Formats: sequence, C-alpha cells, structure tokens
Amino acid sequence: MRNDYELLDSGQGRKLERFGPVILSRPCEQADGDMQNPDLWRDAVAEFDRVAGWTSPGDADLPAEWVVTINGINMKLKPTPAGHLGVFPETRALWDSITEALRLTPDASVLNLFAYSGGATLAAARAGCSVCHLDSSKAMVTRARENAALNDLADAPIRWIVDDVTKFLDREIRRGRRYDAIMLDPPSFGRGRGGEQYKIDKDLVGTLERCKALLSDESAFVLLTSHTQGMTAADLEAVLAGVLGEGPLARGEMRLTGASGVRPVPGGVWTRWG
Ligand SMILES: C[S@@+](CC[C@H](N)C(=O)[O-])C[C@H]1O[C@@H](n2cnc3c(N)ncnc32)[C@H](O)[C@@H]1O
Repeated sequence: MRNDYELLDSGQGRKLERFGPVILSRPCEQADGDMQNPDLWRDAVAEFDRVAGWTSPGDADLPAEWVVTINGINMKLKPTPAGHLGVFPETRALWDSITEALRLTPDASVLNLFAYSGGATLAAARAGCSVCHLDSSKAMVTRARENAALNDLADAPIRWIVDDVTKFLDREIRRGRRYDAIMLDPPSFGRGRGGEQYKIDKDLVGTLERCKALLSDESAFVLLTSHTQGMTAADLEAVLAGVLGEGPLARGEMRLTGASGVRPVPGGVWTRWG
C-alpha cells in the first residue's frame, strides 16, 4: 500500500516529517529529548514557528497545495497559518484497522463525527460502507469531499453534513436513525456551526450517550480518539465503558512513525468498544 508520509526525526520540541517530496519542520510538544539526526533538518523545505509562521530557509518554496498518498488514501495538503496541513498522520494506522474491520460488514452504515478532512470517512468508504461525515467547518467538509474525489469515491454513498455535533445527533435521534459503527475525534475545544462551544471535559459523556442511542442492534464498534493533552488511553476507555457498558474493549496510543530506528512521537490515544 502506497505511503508518502514518514517521520524523519524529532527532538527539542519539533518534528521533521516528509509528506511526499515535501519535508517540513514543525513544533511538537511531545517531541522530547534531543534530535537523533540533526543533519537531516537541513532538508526541510519549510519551517513553521508560532510567531514567524511558515518560512523557507533554502531556495525551494513551500507549495501552496499538493497531494500525497498516506496508507493508500490520497489527501490534498494545504499549509494553514496555524501550521496545519489538513491531515493528522498519527491516525493512519487506525485508518487501516477501520478498513479491515469494516470489510467484514460492507453493508454497515458508519457515522464519523468531528470528521475533519475525511481520513477515517474514506477508510470506511473504501471498505464499501455508507458513511455520514459530520464537521462544523464548511471548509473542512469541502476538503473532505475533494479528498473523496481524489480517491475515486466522489460517487460513494457518503452524506456530507456541516453542523454542530450535538444539534445533529439530537436530530438523528428524533429521526430514529441507526448506525452500525461510530467514529469520533472530539477536540479539546471546538466550535459548532453556529459558534456553539464544545469542550471535551464537559461534553464528551453527553456526546457518547447520544451515540449510544444511535447504535444499531448489530453495532460493529465505537472508535473514540483524542488529542487532548494529559488524556490517557485508560482515561478514554473508562469514559467509553462508563457510557456503553461492558463489552469488548481495546485501547492504544496513536504515534507519528517513520523508518525503523526513528523514534516514534506520541500523538494522542484511542479506545474502541465492540
Ligand atoms: C481534532 S479535529 C479532528 C481531526 C480528525 N478526526 C483527524 O484525525 O484527521 C476536530 C474537528 O472537529 C470539528 N469541530 C469542532 N467543534 C465541533 C462541533 N461543535 N461540532 C462539529 N464539529 C466540530 C472541527 O471543525 C475539526 O475539524
């Protein structure tokens, strides 16, 4: 499976990553310790700094946008003033597990909440499932649709929704909808479509209770991920089990990874029920 992403090095609060032909140096709070390979950092086409923004130290310019294939999924990348690109590569191993799990149930109907640029949506869609993709940001839903087209999934059964998560879930419950698998990546702090505040500390249990009400009798899984600092996989699993009850549970860490010998960088946690 084609993969254009790799972590090249990390240390002193920064990460060096390759996205296809483009090597970037960006801040990373989890990048402890010293750089393993300081010479490599000269290959960076651009560096991001929270004060200076993006700068290019050499002759090459940072492209305005480009397309990469990460674990078999094509994604458009576009650097933002906040240092983001439109993909969180630490989730790529989960994309593989989502596709693998759903290949067994290609008729499954899947809900992806806080769905961003659509990596998990496309991982489910490439397994043949119908997917409902929800994000409060119109720009991110547009990007996810572009990504679907880049994967020949423009005509796949994907419902694209721009809405606040709580309003949408309440509406789906009133409509009597059911989903066989639900994936969600709630932010530490976010805003709904109408500016509604979302805080993981305060709102996660309510979100999961709404998800529980939407699960079908044949439900396959609920996959909850978090990038919130200080949240352990055990914390997240306890919250999920507290709402959904006993059941097959699994948990783990997401990581930015590269070639063998390159020290991985922690990038959040996941837990799965079912
Ligand atoms: C942490 S990002 C998700 C990252 C993504 N799942 C991934 O790993 O590629 C959080 C996303 O939630 C969306 N969001 C934040 N608050 C929201 C809300 N109240 N309702 C719906 N979406 C929200 C943001 O627009 C953003 O795209």
